[in-house]
Amino acid sequence: MSKITEEISRRRTFAIISHPDAGKTTLTEKLLLFGGAIHIAGAVKSNKIKKTATSDWMEIEKQRGISVATSVMGFNYGDYKINILDTPGHQDFAEDTYRTLTAVDSVIIVVDVAKGVEQQTRKLMEVCRMRNTPVIIFVNKLDREGRDPFEILDELESELKIDVRPLSWPINIGAKFKGVYNIYEETLDLFTPDKQKVSERVEIEDLNDPRIDEAVGEADARKLRDDIELIEGVYPDFDENAYLAGRLAPVFFGSALNTFGVKELLDCFVKIAPSPKPVVAQERQVEPSEDNFSGFVFKIHANMDPNHRSCIAFVKVCSGKFERNAPYRHIRSGKIMKFAAPTAFMAQKKNIVDEAYPGDIVGIPDNGNFKIGDTLTEGEILHYKGLPSFSPEMFKYIENTDPMKSKQLEKGIQQLMDEGVAQLFVNQFNGRKIIGTVGQLQFEVIQYRLLHEYGAQCRWEPLSLYKACWIESDDAEALEAFKKRKHQFMAMDREGRDVFLADSNYVLQMAQSDFPKIKFHFSSEY
Ligand code: G4P
Repeated sequence: MSKITEEISRRRTFAIISHPDAGKTTLTEKLLLFGGAIHIAGAVKSNKIKKTATSDWMEIEKQRGISVATSVMGFNYGDYKINILDTPGHQDFAEDTYRTLTAVDSVIIVVDVAKGVEQQTRKLMEVCRMRNTPVIIFVNKLDREGRDPFEILDELESELKIDVRPLSWPINIGAKFKGVYNIYEETLDLFTPDKQKVSERVEIEDLNDPRIDEAVGEADARKLRDDIELIEGVYPDFDENAYLAGRLAPVFFGSALNTFGVKELLDCFVKIAPSPKPVVAQERQVEPSEDNFSGFVFKIHANMDPNHRSCIAFVKVCSGKFERNAPYRHIRSGKIMKFAAPTAFMAQKKNIVDEAYPGDIVGIPDNGNFKIGDTLTEGEILHYKGLPSFSPEMFKYIENTDPMKSKQLEKGIQQLMDEGVAQLFVNQFNGRKIIGTVGQLQFEVIQYRLLHEYGAQCRWEPLSLYKACWIESDDAEALEAFKKRKHQFMAMDREGRDVFLADSNYVLQMAQSDFPKIKFHFSSEY
């Protein structure tokens, strides 16, 4: 095996996603503990913006600052190199999460056993489904009272629209929680509430081993055997290919806080999760093992210090070997660039790196050259696609309040949009600029940053819209007719694509039934 294929095959690049509070941060921390990347629990600062802080702007700044450090967490586990890409917990930054999902090869979804599938989980799963991303589910907080595991499985299947297959099974729940039987490995782990230590393993031959009865009591042992029999009867054997194709999600149970069921999850994960896959560029499919380096920018993190308006562009290596100081072509501008100080993220530290392989993320210091979605190569013209924009949830007109600073405002808006902070639409009827976000917080972020980084002042004007949808049609006449009829509600996105602004669900439904030749898309990737 060549060095590069060896490096690729040992890489696992993934994200942990969940509805806020399900336990994403805790699970991430425990995985880092197993990887030796940290030594005590509590070392990982949560990147989530606590609910109490939503109106406290400086607190958000601080927390966003922390999230640079935890954006990518790389560590070695056995023969594997693991890269966990962090995603913001706060749903107002959901767009960031969607983009991060374009840079991973698989995901782990954390679900709270008491709450089941929640809204944010559903949305994130939709994004995974669009890309057929392989998904493993971790049902968390078994040490607390929660729902029946069979009920949870049914809910996962129906709500997340994916087949499921339990690979571990809990013995009781809440105060009576005794442990987890690992169906995949046929082992039994007993629960000992402890935030630092790994669980205790009971040596067993198979499910009929009397040592199970000794360990958990006869009644629970019987229930476990019945449950497993039921599972084996209802669920087909675990099919790794169905998992890799994104059709089947293995499910694990445990308690992240107590480090319980986490190692089982990790051990199975490294075995079955995919190594970096080929990536589809507009021009062709690119294999990770190709000799020439290529990669794309999936995230830009602004420096919150107003005196240094520098950013870090996060580049996912898609093929070949990335090398420090090598000349790479920035496809959008055609410029050749060299990077003297690229950083990688290992064991919680940001270090300058000399090389990186497919699946790795490299941080490149930048001052305004990069835009989300930009491709870098050794020369070949490639455009990586698949950084979707979704219809925002909230819309406001942005107005300049300082006529002397209109240039600064314009520049600030463009750069913030390049970073992917929000989406800009221009109403074709009145020429006004509309900013679309997924949450109120982003309006505050934009206003604050425009003022502090660009010296521009803006004010928001309310705009009541239900959705912005990208429209297209095979029938040019029908498209023109639609645009004419709806001219007051037509806008353009930054790429010059037609967007219909529907002010209510009713209006949207009427438009869909009145104009059957028009296709309405709720994401820009269609
Ligand atoms: P998130 O990143 O998905 O938002 O969730 P996070 O890990 O921050 O966990 C949310 C809360 O749930 C935290 O409590 C955390 O300690 C708790 N938690 C996580 N895993 C488990 C588990 O297995 N069992 C139990 N009982 N609780 C769990 P918090 O009080 O909100 O925060 P903290 O002050 O403890 O950090």
